[in-house]
Amino acid sequence: MVAFHEDPGPGSGRRAARADFRSDAPRLSLNGRWRFLLSGTADGTGPTLPDPELDDSGWETIRVPSHWVLEGHDQPRYTNTAYPFPIDPPYLPDDNPTGDYRLRFDLPPDWPAGRSVLRYQGVDSCGTVWLNGELLGHSKGSRLPFEFDVTGLVRPRGNLLAVRVQRWSSGSYLEDQDMWWLPGIFRDVELLSRPEGGIDDFTVRASHDGTLLVTADVPGIVEIPELGLTVPTGQSVTLDGVEPWSAEHPRLYRGTLSAAGERIELAIGFRTVEISGGRLLVNGVPVLFRGVNRHEHDPERGRSLDRDTMIRDIELMKRHNVNAVRTAHYPPHPEFLRLCDEYGLWVVDECDIETHGFIYAGWEGNPPDEPMWREALLDRTRRMVERDKNHPSVVVWSLGNESGSGAAFADIENWIRRRDPTRPLHYERDPSYRHSDFHSLMYPSLDDLERIGQRKEDPPEGVTPGSDEDVRRRGLPFLLCEYAHAMGNGPGSLSDYQAILESYERFCGAFVWEWIDHGLSGRDSQGRPYYRHGGDIDAQPNGERYCLDGLLFPDRTPSPGLAELRKAIEPVGFDVSGGSVIITNKYDMVDLGHLSFRWWVEVDGVPVERLTGTLEVPRCGARERVRVPLPRFGAGSAGEGETWVTIEAVLTAATRWAQAGHVVAWTQVRLATGTHRRPARLSLPAAPTPPDDALPPTTAVAVLPGVGWVGAEHEQPFVRVGAAEFDGRTGRLKRIGELELDGPVLDVWRAPTENDRGQGPRNALAADWEAVGLDRFLHRSGGIERPDDHTLVVRGRSGPATRTLGFRTTFTYRWRDGALHLQIDADPVGDWLDTAYGHLSVSPPRMGARFTLPGGYTDVTWFGRGPEESYTDSRAAARVGRFTSSIDALQTPYVVPQENGNHVETRRLEVSGPGLATLRVDGEPHLDFTARRWTSETLQAARRPHDLTDSGRVWLNLDHGQQGLGSASCGPALPERYRVPVRRHSWSMTLAVVD
Ligand code: GAL
Ligand code: MG
Repeated sequence: MVAFHEDPGPGSGRRAARADFRSDAPRLSLNGRWRFLLSGTADGTGPTLPDPELDDSGWETIRVPSHWVLEGHDQPRYTNTAYPFPIDPPYLPDDNPTGDYRLRFDLPPDWPAGRSVLRYQGVDSCGTVWLNGELLGHSKGSRLPFEFDVTGLVRPRGNLLAVRVQRWSSGSYLEDQDMWWLPGIFRDVELLSRPEGGIDDFTVRASHDGTLLVTADVPGIVEIPELGLTVPTGQSVTLDGVEPWSAEHPRLYRGTLSAAGERIELAIGFRTVEISGGRLLVNGVPVLFRGVNRHEHDPERGRSLDRDTMIRDIELMKRHNVNAVRTAHYPPHPEFLRLCDEYGLWVVDECDIETHGFIYAGWEGNPPDEPMWREALLDRTRRMVERDKNHPSVVVWSLGNESGSGAAFADIENWIRRRDPTRPLHYERDPSYRHSDFHSLMYPSLDDLERIGQRKEDPPEGVTPGSDEDVRRRGLPFLLCEYAHAMGNGPGSLSDYQAILESYERFCGAFVWEWIDHGLSGRDSQGRPYYRHGGDIDAQPNGERYCLDGLLFPDRTPSPGLAELRKAIEPVGFDVSGGSVIITNKYDMVDLGHLSFRWWVEVDGVPVERLTGTLEVPRCGARERVRVPLPRFGAGSAGEGETWVTIEAVLTAATRWAQAGHVVAWTQVRLATGTHRRPARLSLPAAPTPPDDALPPTTAVAVLPGVGWVGAEHEQPFVRVGAAEFDGRTGRLKRIGELELDGPVLDVWRAPTENDRGQGPRNALAADWEAVGLDRFLHRSGGIERPDDHTLVVRGRSGPATRTLGFRTTFTYRWRDGALHLQIDADPVGDWLDTAYGHLSVSPPRMGARFTLPGGYTDVTWFGRGPEESYTDSRAAARVGRFTSSIDALQTPYVVPQENGNHVETRRLEVSGPGLATLRVDGEPHLDFTARRWTSETLQAARRPHDLTDSGRVWLNLDHGQQGLGSASCGPALPERYRVPVRRHSWSMTLAVVD
């Protein structure tokens, strides 16, 4: 006989799947501390486990629900696509950690006689359950509920519930999602009284036109007091004047469904989903999902989330303008969907099916294509649909993720279409899309997405252009189920994607990968806390850092990427021109009546008194626009500086998820009163490159007026220009008046981001950079010239060992008006095509100037974009203003240290510290800056944030620019326009000491 855990079937002894609901029938939570013993093989502690007489007093105890690997037993494992066991379906290795659980419980004194049902909301990877020595049955399908009828078995006192949970089972072959393998009884366990005349299951069909039909397995009465409705089950009614449910206006009608023995709470949302004319319509109008992929994750509890954590997720989503969730890649805890109904989120409910690891078998034997798995796959589908069918928030069923193709998908499709014809189906991985109502992809480039919007995409491989299949797919709406891989610092291009998504009717939205970093709390040998990733577990294979790809850090602190997403997907657009603003309502359902519009004017980041007010915005319906005249902002009164008006759309009243005044959308416009004009970044005209031999030899220290020796003991020559003092040999700036500093040197390096590292060898820019030595530039001072008393010209050359490539630099200093003006010209030299390893054409990640300051500097104030970090392809969320931060707070603690904390378009910067002269830098017009207490090299070498310690100096970069972030850790290459070209770069600034 095949051991249950290796039987490909889904289970035995279980009750039929049904809706998850709350009713007045008694319910007993069996959560709590259970007896627990972990064994090394599938037999667990052996046949005595269910024996009520077994003395388990020597066993450990464990919290239920939980994952045992997060409760001090064995260890969590992380793999992305790989199965952590041989592909030998449906079998598993003998080493198979198995948790035996036992719970003794009594029924409450008032527990009714009659039927009782035992329910498990989630057991990973499978469970065999006994009550009072009797086998109830088995189940697989980790993220789905199962129930046993225990009527007649459960008794008032002294019940013994026993569960055996194998870490690996045949079910694991269907659960190869990119996430931690976390075994255990990780969702609630409960005993439900099933009263005589109770309702086992019911189905609500409620359309936006007010049609309502509730059916149930027994006759019952539906009552919705606020609609004055009392109607028997099975009878369809059409109600006048119901407000439809939508994510934007989650109107729920509370009521009851009563039968002879039970009353169920109803929360009905009237809404209709359909696909028509190649578009997704909800309530008759097109919708655009501004979505995220959400795994259930908590750094301490894994996928065992409590309700507060679910609420936290939803609040954060709503506050960041997210309106949709794909439940990647399994049905979430049912409470999450109840909350989505209440708070308003569109949900793509995804089944717990992924067989990605068959990629290593060339998809040979892929379960959806093997009859032996058919029942297990259908079982999972039924359990999802039956459990979640009554949630208005669920608008799309996803058949699963990354499971190739196979005949089972036809069965799954047919079953769902018969059972629930009210929702469209999504499946991304079958290139025929024959079981999907959407065309769908992951991680297309901007160009590819644009072609998809035009319905002009190249057909997937194997699909003949012009074939029926090709034509059908082109007619489907497009759902971008994953894009913008949020691993480490990034993603870039969120606004670029959004602009395309909003431009074509075919798009019904997109889901960022992914919501939260799956870091697990850990401590290093010195007891310091850190977040563990796959590589921190001593087991092979592991997917290393690839589980850290969320918009939230593991502790749910929003990353700068989430701030950028919030801006990119904001539901109100502004277009200021002339004396008015065109306001675009990008909501699909609601008008802008819930928003107030306030404005104010700032000059050089300082608000101008009295130049503030609110705009009267007339009614503006969904997907409409209105033109609103702007007040005269008092042009002229602003004087010399940069004058900006900011307009914000804020919540007029508090909502369930945010306070009144919460900013939903904003814009900024520069008024014509300022004096600067901003040239395009990093696109200065190329100047002719002077020949390399124009560089004087290193040894030449010209004897110039103003050159002297600083004290006999140092024997250091120095040069003075105005109050600035330079090292006479290297030409490096050492001092401006009282202020001590050092630099600059040309800096082309940054600590690679995860996206710089690309995906394997794909788009692995950092590897190319390192191959040619951009990480190890050496600098040669080529001589100092002093054309006049106020000017110093320092020439040099920077490049890596073993290479000819590099930049020739000219730093030209001019003392004027009590400040030091610095012009930097950098011209590429040598061979930037890697001749040793074929044709690597690299471009540097940064074009910058690196300085250091004494460690006593603590704070930075700047006028430019902020307050969050910004990069050339991730700068929409950073507004122009005046900001102050400590140097320490400028660092973004990505779980894996990498480049962070850049600020594009900085006009002016002051670096200060107690008792120290303040350095003021003015860009001409703009600089990128970073300031930190360690070098990029240290940042790169660090494995954890706490490896970064104060070097005793402040490292200040005043840069021409950095390349963008992109999201190449999973996705397309960084667009050319966000790279730093290999050509002449010139930038300039003024350095001054202020009091
Ligand atoms: C997708 C997959 C996700 C995740 C992501 C990369 O292919 O569906 O589960 O692996 O790539 O992080
Ligand atoms: Mg996968």
